[in-house]
Amino acid sequence: MSNPSDQRSKKVENLIKLFLDGPPSLYKFIGPKSIQFEITNRCNVKCVMCDRWKWEPAQIGREELSTQEIFTLINELKELEVQHVLISGGEPFIRRDIADVIKYINERGMALTIITNGVLLKGKKAEALLGGKNSVTFSVDGSSEESYSQIRGINGVFDTIIKNIKNLVALRPRNPKLTIAMHFVVQRGNARKIREYHELASELKVNLVTYGLVHGPHVAERQIGLDDLHLKMVKKQFKQIELDRKIKFLLEPSIRKELSDLLTGKLTLDDIKHGLLAYPLFEREPLPCFSLAYWALIDAFGDVYPCCYAYYDNLSYADYNEKRRQFFLGNVRDQPFREIWDGKRFNELRKIMNPVDVKQFPQVCGNCGSYHFFKDINEDYNLVQGVLRDDSKSTKEKTGAIMQMFLSMAKKQIDRATTSFEEEITEAVKKMT
Ligand SMILES: C[S@@+](CC[C@H](N)C(=O)[O-])C[C@H]1O[C@@H](n2cnc3c(N)ncnc32)[C@H](O)[C@@H]1O
Ligand code: SF4
Ligand code: SF4
Repeated sequence: MSNPSDQRSKKVENLIKLFLDGPPSLYKFIGPKSIQFEITNRCNVKCVMCDRWKWEPAQIGREELSTQEIFTLINELKELEVQHVLISGGEPFIRRDIADVIKYINERGMALTIITNGVLLKGKKAEALLGGKNSVTFSVDGSSEESYSQIRGINGVFDTIIKNIKNLVALRPRNPKLTIAMHFVVQRGNARKIREYHELASELKVNLVTYGLVHGPHVAERQIGLDDLHLKMVKKQFKQIELDRKIKFLLEPSIRKELSDLLTGKLTLDDIKHGLLAYPLFEREPLPCFSLAYWALIDAFGDVYPCCYAYYDNLSYADYNEKRRQFFLGNVRDQPFREIWDGKRFNELRKIMNPVDVKQFPQVCGNCGSYHFFKDINEDYNLVQGVLRDDSKSTKEKTGAIMQMFLSMAKKQIDRATTSFEEEITEAVKKMT
């Protein structure tokens, strides 16, 4: 029988070997760390850039996971050492049991991010957010009733949302671990409103404000993407915000990388005219998909997909149902999540996505929001590979380098989901001409 020291050396040897096998094997060490849970597909508003609100009739006959099924799933995720759950949808606060689900996640010590349109976030649902490391993002794409309703297709709720944000901000002292964010999807219909929006977010005293760029095929079909004129307006306002920031705003703007690339000229309007923001990036420099090592999406019915982009995110349910099926990995009602995570289909996909062939999956990986994260991680990964191949390095140095990379990867991912993008914006604003 081998002694503990032999067993440890064997383990280390395996770790190094598997690491050298390449990105498709990384999931074995990292394991699921951050799970996106699309708790419902139902929605109460009608955004111009998202078709989720049209999904309900196409899904009749399918039962959303019950509260008890969700609790069982959360227990399993906890056992698998998942650190972070991102609840999205549809509109999560439409679920009557949302407060219980939030509390259940918090009681198990997992960090939670929840993305909401904010219309229903009040009373007990707001109180439920006071019990753990939670981050709430209010998606508000306008600075007034008029600009909001134009994008979000619903009249008369803007004041309610502002009231709900104010109430939650007032409750924040009861939970120092609560981050309240506002998110603005920059598009043609609201491009003039950025500065006003920033002022509003600052007055509301949210912790952070994030700006993303509209993506997806609707951009071209519905002509909601930026054109030259609107891009100029956007640049002007971010410059102004940067100037104003020192004197009047409490908040630094946080810009998603794709938008900052557009502002700094790394991406052109022509590059992204089809709404596929990552397409030109993957086309210029293909990279492995690292998210398959730590992330997965579980939908309202328990279906598992590798990521929200492969779930065809915010496109029409009926049209994309068939396409979506090619990325379907299993259902948590039929088998434990652990089996799906370690299953044949997931592993085939990990191999297919190494590196990502964006021409094969334009509507999925061309829409990916993680490209820049992968680039970052890929650099670390190549450095570690160098250390592992260097015979002059000790085993301790080799395992130390691997662990360092895993830790940094997990941290960056969780930071991406729960905190701001301030470095990106600071960088972007500095480089703006
Ligand atoms: C699909 S929504 C689900 C959560 C919730 N209903 C909400 O609106 O916040 C998640 C996020 O995606 C954003 N989003 C929706 N369609 C988008 C698009 N075409 N391009 C960029 N972001 C989009 C929303 O603004 C929101 O911040
Ligand atoms: S972005 Fe959110 S609120 Fe708007 S339609 Fe999609 S799911 Fe509903
Ligand atoms: S869209 Fe493609 S590259 Fe991005 S996370 Fe999903 S599978 Fe990976």
